[in-house]
Amino acid sequence: MSENQNPQTQTDTATTGTDQPLTTTTGESVEQTRDEWREYEFEGESKMTVENLDVYYGDDHALKDVSMEIPEQSVTALIGPSGCGKSTYLRCLNRMNDRISSARIDGTVRFDGQDIYQDGVNLVELRKRVGMVFQSPNPFPKSIRQNIAYGPEKHGDLDTGLLARLLNRSDEEERDRLVERCLRDAALWDEVNDRLDDNALGLSGGQQQRLCIARCLSVDPEIILMDEPASALDPIATAKIEDLIEDLSEEYTVVIVTHNMQQAARISDQTAVFLTGGELVEYGETDQVFEDPNSERVEDYISGKFG
Ligand SMILES: Nc1ncnc2c1ncn2[C@@H]1O[C@H](COP(=O)(O)OP(=O)(O)O)[C@@H](O)[C@H]1O
Ligand SMILES: [Mg+2]
Repeated sequence: MSENQNPQTQTDTATTGTDQPLTTTTGESVEQTRDEWREYEFEGESKMTVENLDVYYGDDHALKDVSMEIPEQSVTALIGPSGCGKSTYLRCLNRMNDRISSARIDGTVRFDGQDIYQDGVNLVELRKRVGMVFQSPNPFPKSIRQNIAYGPEKHGDLDTGLLARLLNRSDEEERDRLVERCLRDAALWDEVNDRLDDNALGLSGGQQQRLCIARCLSVDPEIILMDEPASALDPIATAKIEDLIEDLSEEYTVVIVTHNMQQAARISDQTAVFLTGGELVEYGETDQVFEDPNSERVEDYISGKFG
């Protein structure tokens, strides 16, 4: 509010003395954000509830007072021009910003009602339940099979004990069942089942990204965060990832950052638009945000007038 103490600038059509619309450095018109544009009402449960989130990198205020509820078992898209804080926001949802020493976070993030920033939260467990897929595929330089089995083996979740022996199954059989299930769920099984012991780095980019998704699934997450997961891929590989994301949302809660607005419109149920300065400007059902946005700045952004 402090930036807008002059009542003249509080209207949608703020003008300068010369009758030119005020614009920000990236060309958006200056417009007061209204709370109701960010209040998205949905049926069902909120998987994550973010309240009054501020993020600073040193003196740089990267995210400003963001509040947002993320519905379960759906796809939430985060869009906005480069540098507006989308990745920063996504990283707050599983405390990846903790790894950035200059980052300071204020506000609350609740996952199934539990504050993930309270003392004593187990970060390994949190990041298993809230998994992440990055822009460039980053498989381990190991076999396809080992990429999937690594996490569960490390966390001791792969059933290597009594049950396997009672069922007369070996550890390898248990592991192979898990590997198959994750690869099937990531729509990759049919393409790789005859070469599970090959190095994952020999796969195409799109296959590597689906392998990273399969690896994320192997530790049984509830939320999958994706930061521009298809931006390094060709259109065919991108289409496969988009289909997969839609399928995953039947079981998981997916939050995806994308700079591709058509992609957000195609695959998401709800869309949050961040604009320069780290502000959440509008959040609502995807069709409404794209077809009839409340904010003029969002309309300008979506119609390609800036960004
Ligand atoms: N690790 C970091 N250290 C310092 N500043 C950062 C860091 N990451 C992001 N920022 C700054 O925070 C702002 C938001 O960045 P980011 O979240 O990466 O935006 P987006 O993903 O929307 O492009 C930018 O001004 C960026 O320079
Ligand atoms: Mg980013």
